[in-house]
Amino acid sequence: MEVLIVPTPDDVADLAASVVVDALPTSRPPVLGLATGSSPLGLYRRLGEAAAAGHLRVQDASGVALDEYVGLAGGHPESYRTVLEREVCDVVGLDRARLFVPDGTGADLEALIAAARRHEERIVALGGVDVQILGIGANGHLGFNEPGSALSSRTRVKRLSDRTRADNARFFASPEDVPTHCITQGLGTILSARSLVLVATGAAKATAVAAALEGPLTASCPASVLQWHADAVVVLDEDAAAML
Ligand code: GLP
Repeated sequence: MEVLIVPTPDDVADLAASVVVDALPTSRPPVLGLATGSSPLGLYRRLGEAAAAGHLRVQDASGVALDEYVGLAGGHPESYRTVLEREVCDVVGLDRARLFVPDGTGADLEALIAAARRHEERIVALGGVDVQILGIGANGHLGFNEPGSALSSRTRVKRLSDRTRADNARFFASPEDVPTHCITQGLGTILSARSLVLVATGAAKATAVAAALEGPLTASCPASVLQWHADAVVVLDEDAAAML
């Protein structure tokens, strides 16, 4: 694992974008793994600039989402499909038809389990993820793999922790509106990507970052699985790195 520490969130966006561009293939359509959250927003803007300058093969690239809420209607402004269309497709220039997000709108558990399986099959059909972009939750979650998630897990339906629902309540009209469940790539799915690029900024992430990078590899800190990956790069600002 390579850990890169730079002064500011802007520097994180710049450096992480160049790491992503360098890691993506140019001789075939790239497959980009996409995280939501505020952490990668600057990185996505830089990738848009790289694509506009011809440094990123975006015209036939695919985007694969890490996760999705269960129970938000299609087109809900906070569904991760809508968020990724707005913050990645429109910014980077990725074709919306090649954005693949688990379908969290299923009416029952069986439909949701089938949607999770289809997401795994989609990743395989695309030939795997080239670069998976990641943020980290304040409790060390990766995607929506909460503490306690199995290290070899695949895409599946999960319950969201109270901590994560509280952290994400800022995006909803009231805390009760935050969905209780999600579909998320598993930690095993994430580890199958050819490279991982995790970005974190701000003091609120410092404890989780230290546990993930310097603590034991444990399901109690899902992001610690990065220690296991042969090609993982972590880009931090000084505040997020403060407890290393
Ligand atoms: C959500 C997403 C994660 C993301 C996390 C951190 O829970 N499911 O993939 O890493 O939020 O978000 P932020 O970057 O806004 O702190």
